[in-house]
Parts: sequence; structure tokens; C-alpha cells
Amino acid sequence: MDNSYESRKLLGEYLLFHYGKDEEVMPWSEGPKNGLQFPVRTVHELLDSSSLKSSIKPKALDVGCSVGRSTFELTAYCQEVLGCDLSKSFIDAAQTLSDRFELPYQYLEEGDFYKSTIAKVNSLSDTPPSFFVADACCLPSELLNFDVVHAANLICRLPDPVLFFKQLPNLVKKGGQLILATPFTWLEEYTPKEKWIGSGDSENKLSHYLSPFFKLEKKVELPFVIREHRRKFQYSVSLGTRWRRVENK
Ligand SMILES: C[S@@+](CC[C@H](N)C(=O)[O-])C[C@H]1O[C@@H](n2cnc3c(N)ncnc32)[C@H](O)[C@@H]1O
Repeated sequence: MDNSYESRKLLGEYLLFHYGKDEEVMPWSEGPKNGLQFPVRTVHELLDSSSLKSSIKPKALDVGCSVGRSTFELTAYCQEVLGCDLSKSFIDAAQTLSDRFELPYQYLEEGDFYKSTIAKVNSLSDTPPSFFVADACCLPSELLNFDVVHAANLICRLPDPVLFFKQLPNLVKKGGQLILATPFTWLEEYTPKEKWIGSGDSENKLSHYLSPFFKLEKKVELPFVIREHRRKFQYSVSLGTRWRRVENK
């Protein structure tokens, strides 16, 4: 399938979604503010930091990380943090931010007029995250035993979400945590209909695919706003969940 995540417009859209100032993302005072800072909230609202204290050097993997904001947030809790995505342009942007802490970019204002701004990251730890291109349906086999695996708004962009689920018991170490967020926006342009994990009952189907290896620990609603241009926004509500990797039954 086409990777539509490679265009200039989308790169600007995602850099703005992840690193834009609140007033850049939502310039209208009447607009929904509860959808701002989504890639920060998926980490801080869902991660259980207390259970990481037993690990000497906790490590985290952010799958489908896009331009990497949640990956940077994970460095506040884990010493080794990796982010991966299928889009090379997203990964290049994220790695540049990790190396240089800033990245000039443009986002669409209207028609073909783009506004220039700069994405900036504050160093949250001494060890910056690393980024690489990878397919969530077929991750490198050496990726194993992470304390935290984070995958936000990814599963309904995959051609076969079950292929991703099947890798999770090996990706997350026993006692580790899986952070998932998904608005279940099933679209045939990304996922053939026979691979949708549900239709109206996707929330229950998550447990079906994740058990017996994972136990649901936390569930939150996570609204998010993506600005397409100055006068057009996507408002969605992602279901945020935290799952504990349990012993195999
Ligand atoms: C809706 S975006 C979500 C990005 C980010 N996690 C967030 O919450 O903003 C979906 C991301 O999944 C990536 N993606 C799509 N198919 C993928 C695949 N097979 N493997 C890895 N990443 C993929 C896209 O490039 C895009 O960055």
C-alpha cells in the first residue's frame, strides 16, 4: 500500500502536532483545547513509572513514532529509548531533533502558503533517543524485552494489526508495560476490511488479541486535534490503554 505519510504537507502537519505551540496548533479561542499535546499525554497519563524502579536500566520502544515527540517524553523514565516508523521522512526529522535539538519546518496555512517555524526539544535525559525505519508488522527480531512499548494511533494504520500484536509478547518483557492508544479509525486505504480487528466492538477485540499475555491495567480517553490548515482540524478521541505483560498461562 502507498505510504501517504511521506508528503511535505504531512511532515509539517505531524511536526506541528508533536512540537507546535498550543496557539499554533489551535489558533481559535473557541477551539477544543483538550486535544492539545496528545503525544505528551499518551506517555504521562498512561505510563506507570513506579514499576520501572525495579529495572536497573529501563528501556522503551515507541512503534509508529512518527516525528518522535512521545519517544522524547519516554526518555524522562527510561535510559535507553528507541523510536521506529515506516516513514523515512518522519524518522529523519526525529533523528535530526535528537542530534541538534531543533529543526526548522513549514506547516500549511492555506492553499499552497506554508508558514515557517522551528520544532524544539528540551533534553529530558543525558541519553537522547535513537530512531530507525522499521515496519511494525515485521520488526527486527533483535528487538526484545522492553520495559515499555508505546504505540499510539498506529494499529488502524497497519495493513494487518494482528501481525503487530503477535510480536508484542516478545517485545515487552514479563512485568513490563504496553501503552496503546487508538481511535479505531478503520479505513480500507490502510487496512483491508477483513483485517479490521472489529467494527463497533474493537475495544473488546483488543483484549481478545492481547490475552493471555497482557492484562488491562488502565483505560483513559485521549482526545487529539490535528491541524490540517488554519481553518480545518481533525478532532478524534483515542482510547488509551496500559497493559501489563504477565506470565504465560
Ligand atoms: C496516525 S500516525 C501516529 C503517529 C504517532 N504515534 C502519534 O501518536 O502522533 C501513524 C504513524 O504510523 C506510521 N506507520 C504506518 N504504517 C506503519 C508500519 N507498517 N510500521 C511502522 N509505522 C507505520 C506512519 O508513518 C505514522 O507515523
